[in-house]
Amino acid sequence: MRPSRVLERPRADNNAMARLLLLNGPNLNLLGTREPGLYGQDTLDAIVTRCAALATELGHELVARQSNAEHELVDQVQQAKSQGVAFLILNPGAFTHTSIALRDAILGVSLPFIEVHLSNVHAREEFRRHSYFSDIAVGQVVGLGPLGYELALRAAAHRLAAGATR
Ligand code: DQA
Repeated sequence: MRPSRVLERPRADNNAMARLLLLNGPNLNLLGTREPGLYGQDTLDAIVTRCAALATELGHELVARQSNAEHELVDQVQQAKSQGVAFLILNPGAFTHTSIALRDAILGVSLPFIEVHLSNVHAREEFRRHSYFSDIAVGQVVGLGPLGYELALRAAAHRLAAGATR
C-alpha cells in the first residue's frame, strides 16, 4: 500500500482563519442508532471528526457542541461571539419547531448561521415544516443526511471568504 500524502492546500483568497461553531440540539447525540432509516448510520462523533478535518482543510477551526437542554444551547450561542466564533452551523433538532428562546439568542448576538437538517423535514409530519430559524438563517441544508453538515461548512467558508457578516 502506498503511504498517503499530506496535501498542503493554500487558503482561499482573502480568508483569515475563522472559528466556526457546529451546534447540535436534542437527540442528535443518538445519531448512529437513532432511526437510521431517517438519520443515517453515522455517529455524531464521526460527523464532527469529518467536519473538523474539512474546516482545517478550508483554513478554519471548528468547535463542536451538542446538548439536549435548550438553556445550554442558548448559553452556547450567547458565549459564541465572545469566544471568537464567526459563523454557526446549527441543527436545532426538535427545537427547530419550538424554540423562540434559541432564535432570540442568535438574533441577540447577531451570529450568521446555516440551518442543517439530516432529514427532509418538508416530507415528514406537518409540524416539522415550520422552523423558527429559517427566516433568519443565511441558508438551509435539508434532507441530505450527514453530508449536509459538510456542505454547510463549505458554504460558510465561502461566505467568510467573501467577507459577508450576515
Ligand atoms: C432534525 C429534524 C427535526 O424535526 C427532528 O426533531 C430532529 C432532527 C434533522 O436533522 O432532520 O431531531 O433536525
